[in-house]
Amino acid sequence: MRRYVRLFPLLLLLLLSCDRMTSEKVFRKGLVVSSDRIASEVGLDILKQGGNAIDAVCATALSLAVTFPRAGNLGGGGFALIHTSDSQPVSFIDFRETAPGNINPKYYLDDSGKVVRARAIVGPGSAGTPGTVAGLYEMHRKYGQLQWNQVVHPARMLADTGFIVGASLAASLADYSDDLSQFRSTAEIFVKDGRTVQRGERLRQEDLALSLVLIEEKGRDGFYLGETAVKIADFCQAQDGFISLSDLESYQPVWREPVRFNYAGLDIFTAPLPSSGGVVMGQILKILDRYELSKYTALRSEYIHLFTESARLAFADREAYLGDPDFGHDFSKSLLDDAYLTSRTQSIRTDQASASEDVQPGIPDQSRESDNTTHLVVADGAGNVVSLTYTINLNYGSKAVVAGAGFLLNNEMDDFAIAVGQPNAFGLIGGEANKIEPKKRMLSSMTPTIILKANHPYLALGSPGGSKIITAVAQTIINYATFGESLTNAISLPRFHHQWQPDNLFVERAGFPAATLEVLRALGHNVVERDRYSEVMGVSFSEEGSYFSGVADARGSGYVAGY
Ligand code: DON
Repeated sequence: MRRYVRLFPLLLLLLLSCDRMTSEKVFRKGLVVSSDRIASEVGLDILKQGGNAIDAVCATALSLAVTFPRAGNLGGGGFALIHTSDSQPVSFIDFRETAPGNINPKYYLDDSGKVVRARAIVGPGSAGTPGTVAGLYEMHRKYGQLQWNQVVHPARMLADTGFIVGASLAASLADYSDDLSQFRSTAEIFVKDGRTVQRGERLRQEDLALSLVLIEEKGRDGFYLGETAVKIADFCQAQDGFISLSDLESYQPVWREPVRFNYAGLDIFTAPLPSSGGVVMGQILKILDRYELSKYTALRSEYIHLFTESARLAFADREAYLGDPDFGHDFSKSLLDDAYLTSRTQSIRTDQASASEDVQPGIPDQSRESDNTTHLVVADGAGNVVSLTYTINLNYGSKAVVAGAGFLLNNEMDDFAIAVGQPNAFGLIGGEANKIEPKKRMLSSMTPTIILKANHPYLALGSPGGSKIITAVAQTIINYATFGESLTNAISLPRFHHQWQPDNLFVERAGFPAATLEVLRALGHNVVERDRYSEVMGVSFSEEGSYFSGVADARGSGYVAGY
């Protein structure tokens, strides 16, 4: 009998797992999924101290700035979606970087008008005014439960006393050894005696700890005013950067209406402008919802073809219409309009790929208008969920640590359309709507997403990967919701990507059956194999949302911590 009593929790768990949560561990009280084990455990600890998902997401994000410097940050920006048990129904905060007030767009161009890539992505000149600290502080002010200093404290301690560098961080630092040696302030932290910090060594970051003490004690003012602000402005002034004290003082995060649309009977909430993520993913999924996708699988050429054709159309519109909504017309509603998408869908043929040069942006009906990145998901036992993506753009951002302040500045200026027709680091060609203007937010592809079903959380997810974020998130949703895969499978299945220009169908190397690729080539797709495809973090929920499980993409070093 005793044996059966011991077996009971196991049986119960098995029973609970029946609705597809087959391969994942199930939690009821709290769960943190992030790109780093230490940071996920900090978040879990905050939940155990009585903090809610918002407290935990802030603590985790701040800890990532210490333990995951290639993307975790104080010097970048991002977006978060928040579903709380008592608010309506999902809110969105934009803490994207802004172009400095005295920006000179010509700085990025040579005499012939060509983009000087190094200027767009290296050094303080490539940085926008950071938004992360203001964004986290504002989220916490509105929804947090613990004191702000309790939420910041673990990150400050990690910076101060240090942590043991693991295999993933050591390998990444070694990969970027030359980049990290370019600025003395950066090399002093990550490159000692000519070699990057090794696995098993303790990494202490005293300057970063000092910056975090000021944030812990003074909140957002500890970053945007006083000592840290002066260090940022002085550093920029000394090295071709544009960020000034007044840019920092006046930086404001913005609460915005999320993009909301229906796919397969699900209520999807995702990032609005200045991220293109929500609109582009919305177009793709709404077009695909017109087809009976469930008769295919994730590896079938018919599905990959239809997805690719939809993505081609959506990315063409991205270039033409999307940019900071505070600086131009917001086309989101017309681009997601059903009649408009019906007209766009007419060009899709099932027996032949279209050529991107024949596909132009559509003409949405404006009369209908009313108006290296990392993703974290936290859920708590009270029904709160946060899905947050933030970034300093490329790995280690501008590669420049602010001297004396210990954190890397972003290189987000490259996300603007610096020169019409010239692609950025992600091969994206931007248009007039995304040209550089003072104080403007550069267009993003980050796509933090929360999906509700019958008003309960169903899935929360997001990813790094530049333009590939959008297709990675969309494919994970389709794998889970339409193909009925477990969350683990939905995230690990091979991915593919098309963004109109260049006219390539990128497929994850060694991911797809040769026969599938052959059919796609025969349809006329220019199939190109590529390594590593984003790093999706996701949490799925039971029907009433009362228990949940998380998955960190096996492509990265992420970690699920729950209880
Ligand atoms: O906001 C954006 O779309 C880009 N700055 C994101 C960069 C990114 O995902 C890099 N990670 N691989």
